[in-house]
Amino acid sequence: MLIFNTQNELVSYLASISNTETAIGFVPTMGALHQGHLSLLSEALKQNSVVVMSIFVNPTQFNNAEDLAKYPRTLEADLEKIKSVSDKIIVYAPSVEDIYKGNTVSQHFDFDGLENQMEGQFRPGHFDGVGTIVKSLFEIVKPTHAYFGEKDFQQLQIVKKMTEKAKMPVKVIGCPIFREPNGLAMSSRNERLSEVEKKEAAIIYKTLKQAKQLFATQSATAVTKWVKKTFEKNPNFTLEYFQIADEASLLPCLRKNKSKKYRAFIAVFVNNIRLIDTISLK
Ligand code: PAF
Repeated sequence: MLIFNTQNELVSYLASISNTETAIGFVPTMGALHQGHLSLLSEALKQNSVVVMSIFVNPTQFNNAEDLAKYPRTLEADLEKIKSVSDKIIVYAPSVEDIYKGNTVSQHFDFDGLENQMEGQFRPGHFDGVGTIVKSLFEIVKPTHAYFGEKDFQQLQIVKKMTEKAKMPVKVIGCPIFREPNGLAMSSRNERLSEVEKKEAAIIYKTLKQAKQLFATQSATAVTKWVKKTFEKNPNFTLEYFQIADEASLLPCLRKNKSKKYRAFIAVFVNNIRLIDTISLK
C-alpha cells in the first residue's frame, strides 16, 4: 500500500503508472473508516485497475466548529482497514495546507437548487465546502469512476450535478448504505456515540421503515406528522428534519406523483451528535 501526503507526489506517481486508457477508481473519505467505506473500495477494485482512497477531514464543509474539532481522526486504524481489503490501494492523506495552500475557503457553487434543501438549510455553506474539496480531489486524482455512499444521498446528487455542469470526465457511482445489525446506518460519527446511544439510535431506521409503510397509503404531510410525534415521545433524540422528497430534484413531495421516485430523509441529534439517514420509498 502506498501513502502520499502531497498532491505533487501523488500526481507524479499516478502519471508514472497510468495512461489515458487506465481506469482509475476513487473513493474520497474523511477517514474513521467503517464497513461502508470498505465496500466502496471493493466496488472500486472490481471496476478499475488503479484505486485511490483519500483521507482528509475537510474544514470548509463543517459549519460547526465543535463538530470539526470532534470529528474522529484515526489514520493508523484506517490504514490497517484499507490493507485488510487490498494492499494495492493508493492512499492520499494530505494536510490542510497541501489542499488549500494557505487559503482555506470554499468556492461558491450553483447546484440548480439541490443545495437549498434539507442539509443545505440546516448546514449553511456545507455543500460549497463539499463541492470545493471534491472538485479539487477530482482534479488531482483524475478518476474514471468515483464512489460515494447513499447515506449522504443529497451529497451524491450534488456531486453528480457538479461533474455534469463542469463536464468532468468521471462517472459518479452511488453505493448502498451499510447498517449495524440494529439498523443504524454506519457513519464515522457513530464512533462518538456511547454503547447505549448506539442501541437507542436504532429508532432512526426503524422509524424510516415505518414511514415507508405509511407512505404507501398516506400523504407525505401525514407521514411527516407521525414521524415528528414519534420523536417527541423520545426525549434523548431531537429531530432536526424529516422530509419526503423527489429523488431527482430533492424538492419536498407536496402531492404524490406516480412518475416520481420518492425518498425519505432524516437528521436527528443524539446528545449533540448529528446523525442522518435515508430510505427509498419505492
Ligand atoms: O462524505 C464524505 O465523507 C465527505 O463529504 C467527502 C465526500 C469525502 C468530502 O470531504
